Amino acid sequence: MSTPVPATPPAVAAPAATATSAPARLSARALVKRFGETTALAGVDLDLADGESLAVMGPSGSGKSTLLHCLAGILVPDAGSVMLRGRPVHGLDERERSLLRRTSYGFVFQNGQLLPELPAVENVALPALLLGTSRREATELATRWLASLGLAGMEGRRPGELSGGQAQRVAVARALVTQPDVVFADEPTGALDQANGHEVMRLLTEATRAVGACLVVVTHDEQVAAWCGRRIVVRDGRVVDERRTA
Ligand SMILES: Nc1ncnc2c1ncn2[C@@H]1O[C@H](COP(=O)(O)OP(=O)(O)O)[C@@H](O)[C@H]1O
Ligand SMILES: [Mg+2]
Repeated sequence: MSTPVPATPPAVAAPAATATSAPARLSARALVKRFGETTALAGVDLDLADGESLAVMGPSGSGKSTLLHCLAGILVPDAGSVMLRGRPVHGLDERERSLLRRTSYGFVFQNGQLLPELPAVENVALPALLLGTSRREATELATRWLASLGLAGMEGRRPGELSGGQAQRVAVARALVTQPDVVFADEPTGALDQANGHEVMRLLTEATRAVGACLVVVTHDEQVAAWCGRRIVVRDGRVVDERRTA
């Protein structure tokens, strides 16, 4: 018996990716952002490989948050490019950027920015609901995420009824519930004491790895940066130093 010839060639497995040849999941080239007379980014190049975690360090006002906002589609750069999985995203309009942020990115900010009137479980379920997940499924997913971050039993608490560390863990769950490509965190431990900051970074890095996302963390704290595989230092809108942590 002869094997029928397939109508289309079988899919050829891609060659095994190596650290040097794999295309970046997220990359920036010659990124420039100005605010009036201030040049916040003066030409930044950056590549983030699949699953990589990056700490963005540097003094206050050096351009760290601006870099994060340009990478994340919150701000539109004045020049240069941002590519997500090879797709240009720097030129998207507001509606497209909003969709990109909801579908592909997760965010953790210094002060959680949870919705104060919603219980924890609804805060976490919300991004999934916005992507069309049913309420029941989103609630189940959110409940599981909260449990895996050590918050079982706290689903019904509103942000004001949680400690700072607990609220940041809710924010971590909310950032990951949609299984994003990249999680962006701007000073995620800035409002926490050392022990809680340590715990939030442990959970953030573990959970990010578990869903296969990349992580970009803006911080001026060496101990926070130490959780990331690589770090860059930004000064006057440029990357002035780069090294691997581990
Ligand atoms: N929305 C804005 N309007 C005007 N200037 C801004 C704005 N955002 C940032 N800047 C300026 O751009 C520079 C970089 O800011 P930022 O990226 O917030 O720094 P960092 O996060 O490193 O503290 C600073 O000089 C800051 O004052
Ligand atoms: Mg900042």
